[in-house]
Amino acid sequence: MASWTGRGNHGLVALIFVSFVLVVPAIRAHIGEMDEYWQRRAQLAEKATLKAYHPNPHEVTNELNLNVHKALSGMESTRRELRKYDGPCLATNPIDRCWRCDPNWVSNRKKLADCVQGFGRNTRGGQDGDYYVVLDPSDSDMVNPKPGTLRHAVTQNRPLWIIFARSMIIRLNQELIVNGNKTIDGRGANVLITGGAGITLQFVSNVIIHGLRINNIVKGSGGMIRDSEDHYGFRTESDGDGISIFGSSNVWIDHVSMSKCSDGLIDAIVGSTAITISNCHFTNHNDVMLFGASDSYALDAHMQITLAFNHFGQGLIQRMPRCRMGFFHVVNNDYTHWLMYAIGGSKNPTILSQGNRFIAPPVLDPQNNATEVTKREYAPESEWRSWLWRSEGDLMMNRAFFVTSGDRAAALRYSSVDLISPRPGTYVTRLTRFAGALNCRAGQPC
Ligand SMILES: *[C@@H]1O[C@H](CO)[C@@H](O)[C@H](O)[C@H]1NC(C)=O
Ligand SMILES: *[C@@H]1O[C@H](CO)[C@@H](O)[C@H](O)[C@H]1NC(C)=O
Repeated sequence: MASWTGRGNHGLVALIFVSFVLVVPAIRAHIGEMDEYWQRRAQLAEKATLKAYHPNPHEVTNELNLNVHKALSGMESTRRELRKYDGPCLATNPIDRCWRCDPNWVSNRKKLADCVQGFGRNTRGGQDGDYYVVLDPSDSDMVNPKPGTLRHAVTQNRPLWIIFARSMIIRLNQELIVNGNKTIDGRGANVLITGGAGITLQFVSNVIIHGLRINNIVKGSGGMIRDSEDHYGFRTESDGDGISIFGSSNVWIDHVSMSKCSDGLIDAIVGSTAITISNCHFTNHNDVMLFGASDSYALDAHMQITLAFNHFGQGLIQRMPRCRMGFFHVVNNDYTHWLMYAIGGSKNPTILSQGNRFIAPPVLDPQNNATEVTKREYAPESEWRSWLWRSEGDLMMNRAFFVTSGDRAAALRYSSVDLISPRPGTYVTRLTRFAGALNCRAGQPC
């Protein structure tokens, strides 16, 4: 908030709130009636977005790059002493190094919340709360969910660290509306969310989703759905996203495996910010990630999202991610396949692509190849030439190429930080080797 003066700030909040009320119907909030409850939640969420926004995003990108250097050099110099760890915990990134090698992770589950990096770095999820053990995979009552179910857990008001008693397959009858201050921690069980509706974070803060498998998500028909202990209301049909982040801040999605959803795998829209998506494995999907869905929603300029150590794998087509406005740090991800493009956008987003590996698909038709990593939409070159899209330390394979734009020096003129270069894309195989949901067993490192 340092960048706003006191008086200007109130004006800005009021202005943005007015713009929200006008714009939201157009971008389908799926809220049947914008009643007092949702208006209050929307207002709090906007304040949280403004508060979570970092006025100097390069401080955040630098810190992550520095921590990758430290994690890798630490490993190199202590490799001999660490032999006893044997395998998985040797080759890893700073997020994983923070917790994964602990064989007592079961007793120290909440330590995970200290490990997030990037723009979601202040996310603590349910760290201050009790454990809630999901015992029952059913999802039959949308208004009065049965105690012991995932829906009952996520609609509680107090902070909770939600874990699973055993492996289970959950078919969500309607979108799962998650309340704030929650961690959904799938470690130690194989938790598959499939065949039904997806997960919705709408006007909430502080949510961690870790270690789930999510696939084959379809639209929910809508109806009366509970969103918290105090409220339920009518929802229209949901989109069929795996995870929909809507007007929410401080969100961390880590070690999640996702494929084949009927809309996006992960969408972040309506002024969502302070988000890190890390260590995930994505496969078999068309529109992978959409960050910003409206050209006219001003708060989207506050979007700040980190994508780090993810594996964009087989059968992906486009939008990894597709961005509007905002600031996106895409760092040390492995893009082993895409059919149309990897990173795209419109409306002047800032995209810092660092230390990724981009392997273009084979050129079958030279007139219609997809070797270009990037794609700009709805703007002539005269306009997009000034958008800041940088590629640094990216490893380009199979003729992949990244079309950069914008004047970095000009953009950084007001920044006081010295930039730390990323670890180059040649390290990506090591950094992303354990992407996706892990098979953690009690008493052993994950
Ligand atoms: C989450 O925790 C914060 C800080 O304690 C609190 O202000 C907020 O109301 C909580 N959110 C919910 C949904 O309970
Ligand atoms: C095909 O790939 C080359 C680089 O290998 C590129 O310059 C050209 O623009 C591409 N053609 C099309 C139609 O995408």
